[in-house]
Amino acid sequence: MSRIKIFDTTLRDGEQSPGVNLNQLEKLEIAKQLERFGVDRMEAGFPASSKGEFNAVKAIADNIKDTSVIALARTVKSDVDAAWEALKGAAEPSVHLFLATSPIHMTYKLKKTPEQVIDTAVDMVTYAKQKFSTIEWSAEDATRSDWNFLAQIIERVIDAGATVINLPDTVGYTTPDEYGRLFRYIRETVPNIDRVSLSCHCHNDLGMAVANSIAAVENGATQVEGTINGIGERAGNAALEEIAVALKIRSDFYPYETGLQLKEIKRTSDLIAKLTGMHVQANKAVIGRNAFSHESGIHQDGVLKNASTYEIITPEMVGVNSNTLFLGKHSGKHAFKDKVKELGYQLSEEKLKEAFDSFKKLTDRKKEVTDDDLFTILMEIQTDT
Ligand code: KIV
Ligand code: ZN
Repeated sequence: MSRIKIFDTTLRDGEQSPGVNLNQLEKLEIAKQLERFGVDRMEAGFPASSKGEFNAVKAIADNIKDTSVIALARTVKSDVDAAWEALKGAAEPSVHLFLATSPIHMTYKLKKTPEQVIDTAVDMVTYAKQKFSTIEWSAEDATRSDWNFLAQIIERVIDAGATVINLPDTVGYTTPDEYGRLFRYIRETVPNIDRVSLSCHCHNDLGMAVANSIAAVENGATQVEGTINGIGERAGNAALEEIAVALKIRSDFYPYETGLQLKEIKRTSDLIAKLTGMHVQANKAVIGRNAFSHESGIHQDGVLKNASTYEIITPEMVGVNSNTLFLGKHSGKHAFKDKVKELGYQLSEEKLKEAFDSFKKLTDRKKEVTDDDLFTILMEIQTDT
């Protein structure tokens, strides 16, 4: 089994979903849960974009020690400097530089020739190398770029010090067969490619992000980028929980493993849905509300006789608890504490008491306290320092 690294970008590309805006506390809460989920790397944000974003990335870098924290930067010195200032307290500060390589982007957006693009990329990787030992370089819009040009620029940025090369399908345009061939081509053509990790990053505009990511892995990608619940720009990014479960369920076919704790999927998905306000569609693969429900009589009958007749994923595997606790005015502190843990929060005794008091007050007004109510209470308790 080869070990595939998981790079989570929920806090950066995921936050680029229209209408999503996470504050520092929310980002930190998500980062802690991503660490429990077992992602290898998390992209905490884009520090040069605003003061609030800078502070959030810094808070994550200062608090998350078991996962490598990465920040996005355009190929300009001030972005690299901002990323360094935010990340210098991290266990393994890493920067993610990107520059477009497709003719469309180079001509209309960058207004640069291919040679100028190579020079800019090399200069900025060289500059970043003075501060960072881990540098990911992304060829934005790689899937609409000329493959020969990609091979040339990748060789140059590796020589300049990049340690991870990412080939994003920025506009969700590629297909599994084509994306797989691109990875194979880069593996076979770029002479120094074995010195670095090779990463895939897929968007879901044509609904193929997960299939494309798996095709990349089958053809030499050693890192997969994506988000929880597949949130992200436009139609979103590849959903990491779907990739992880597909690799696990079809391990007869895919000889790859990740370090993800699949049992944390439900908790991670719920937390992100709640804090981003982007609810998971009922029929979403792996984690949607209907993923383990059976409506037709024939299916219900089969499942009652043996669940594997119509279920290929067990709810337990992804942390869906069928005995989830109902919380109301008769619930005691013990049940409340278990529920708080089930939602992924670890509170001090003092904060737990504060949260329990707010919960009890709420039960005077509401018969059933929902997970959403609890998330609100927990966020208020955390804010109220
Ligand atoms: O989709 C994309 O091209 C990106 C880059 C910043 C890597 O998100
Ligand atoms: Zn992206």
